[in-house]
Amino acid sequence: MAVTERRLEGKNVLVTGAARRIGRAISLALAREGANVAVHYESSEKEAADLAAEIGSLGGRVVAIRANLSDSNDLEGLVDRAREELGKLEILVNNASIFPSDTFETIDLESLERSVEINAWAPLVLTRAFAAQTERGHVVNLLDSRVLGFDRTHVAYILSKHVLSALTRICALELAPGIAVNGIAPGLILSPPGKDEDYVDRLARTVPLERRGAPEDVAATALFLVTSEFVTGETIYVDGGRHLKEYSGDGPDSR
Ligand SMILES: NC(=O)c1ccc[n+]([C@@H]2O[C@H](COP(=O)([O-])OP(=O)(O)OC[C@H]3O[C@@H](n4cnc5c(N)ncnc54)[C@H](OP(=O)(O)O)[C@@H]3O)[C@@H](O)[C@H]2O)c1
Repeated sequence: MAVTERRLEGKNVLVTGAARRIGRAISLALAREGANVAVHYESSEKEAADLAAEIGSLGGRVVAIRANLSDSNDLEGLVDRAREELGKLEILVNNASIFPSDTFETIDLESLERSVEINAWAPLVLTRAFAAQTERGHVVNLLDSRVLGFDRTHVAYILSKHVLSALTRICALELAPGIAVNGIAPGLILSPPGKDEDYVDRLARTVPLERRGAPEDVAATALFLVTSEFVTGETIYVDGGRHLKEYSGDGPDSR
């Protein structure tokens, strides 16, 4: 039987917020293609250890690294810590995020700053550090299918994702020709904490493809982007067509 070549054999990857949910699926998809993975986490220590064990059983090298992305020392040191463990990083996936609830009436500067800090500033600092240690590579930023429009119940969050969306295109130009920078904009994949999964299933009926996506759909897109040699500054909507509704003004109000 022919042995299929693994597309990321020996490549070193840092995935932020990797221990659970979408970050976990992305980490596993890249590891199955032969990547060595730095599993970044903050509070999910047990889940990070479990994921590291699972990646180790696939044969890849793996390290779990705790860092609070709102702590500047942790943030500035994260790429170096991953590189010290695995060697030069060739892929960075900015997945970690916060998703606080607020509205136009309740948003304040502090909550906006906190969302921007985790969801956009941390990816900028990590991307800069990543680019300082490799001439070639890929960065993938996790956006949101609502970056074409608005999210009336998560205003600080969606503003921070608009910043990350702009940053994706800016970094694609800044880091060319060696490093490709792209975005993935997921739609209805997993319910946010505090909402049961019925919540996403109910909203999924409003999506053109009339279903929710899986973390594996997002992971497959990440794999496509990090193995593409001629795509940069692009955003792929993994949302069953939900973003198209932003143009008609009747997008659902929340995830
Ligand atoms: N879920 C969806 O359906 C959906 C839809 C649209 C967009 N997205 C985007 O896709 C990405 C993944 O979504 P998700 O729902 O899987 O993410 P999530 O569960 O909301 O968050 C991912 C991880 O971010 C980490 N994180 C949060 N604050 C941190 C901090 N201060 N320092 C370090 N790490 C921190 C947490 O790590 P620990 O658990 O280790 O603390 C958390 O597990 C996110 O960027 C999200 O905005 C998701």
